[in-house]
Amino acid sequence: MTKKIAVLAGDGIGPEIMAQALKVLTAMKLPLEFEESLVGGVAYAAYGHPLPESCIKLAKESDAVLFGAVGDFKYDTLERHLRPEQAILGLRKALGLFVNLRPAVCFPELTAASSLKPELVAGLDLLLIRELTGDVYFGQPRGKRISPDGQFAGAEEGYDTMRYAVPEVERIAHVAFKAAMGRKKHLVSVDKANVLETSQLWRDTMIEVSKQYPEVTLEHMYVDNAAMQLVKAPKRIDVMVTGNLFGDILSDEAAMLTGSIGMLASAALNDKGQGLYEPSHGSAPDIAGKNIANPLAQILSAAMMLRYSLGMEQESCAIENAVKKVLSQGYRTGDIWSEGCKKVSCSEMGDAVIAALK
Ligand code: IPM
Ligand code: MG
Repeated sequence: MTKKIAVLAGDGIGPEIMAQALKVLTAMKLPLEFEESLVGGVAYAAYGHPLPESCIKLAKESDAVLFGAVGDFKYDTLERHLRPEQAILGLRKALGLFVNLRPAVCFPELTAASSLKPELVAGLDLLLIRELTGDVYFGQPRGKRISPDGQFAGAEEGYDTMRYAVPEVERIAHVAFKAAMGRKKHLVSVDKANVLETSQLWRDTMIEVSKQYPEVTLEHMYVDNAAMQLVKAPKRIDVMVTGNLFGDILSDEAAMLTGSIGMLASAALNDKGQGLYEPSHGSAPDIAGKNIANPLAQILSAAMMLRYSLGMEQESCAIENAVKKVLSQGYRTGDIWSEGCKKVSCSEMGDAVIAALK
């Protein structure tokens, strides 16, 4: 049966890297049907809103969403609810995408591109699981007001609310423990339980859920220590689970260990297996339209989509192996290029992946 894919390329380099991912999927002759929609800044420019209703509708009725990137400096002065970033937050909420899988894998050929010593990152294969629809990102109340009390009473203040409900932590805990069961059976849960009530509840819930997974060793880490451990001994960590805000920060850190954020894919899933797949990097407006961006994270996101939402494991592996092959053949876009390698454009990289599939 043909599966329907919502294609949301977005802003900046989004359209050019998306074109490469679609080219790869098309070359594989898979039973997929693509439907595009504007999202982010380009949607704001066309319809006055970064996430039009028609886009949400398309995403909801599709089997999966392949997402590029959103954001551009020129929209930074818009009111918050009209900024391109709201599109991705709105899609996560509308589809209930509470699971965010952010693998950080260091490809052997790119070890030298990491800012850490090669021996610290060679062979790194870490899975960061971030809760994606709760926490201070979505917690109410939030806003601006005149401070009602305290030392700065009477001054204008901004406030947000960090909150997690037990079932909300339980469902992400189950995802994390199951992932750990399929890997090294070691799970690191990150919180700030020494200071925050929300984190204490998170930790207590993790401990409760862990009783259902006796084979998995659960380790707790405060977020400041986790940030340190990621650069000190990242290979000691196999699966890490954390809340929305800490996960946002730690996933960028984990991504950088691998040398290039241009290589990392991510998946955001709901409880129905529907998912949104996007590169971990942003829209890079400074290099947009130059055909020099690295399309591999977008291509690897398409591979994740085949695996997690479409049940096409073999095809997913085929793409991942093709990416490994082009790296071993020495093809590099500018962001991962080093002396002695073949520098290629965004579209040439797409072509190389297709050639490597055969
Ligand atoms: C990410 C991004 C988003 C987030 C932004 C663009 C809203 O940084 O996906 O990590 O904070 O979640
Ligand atoms: Mg982020």
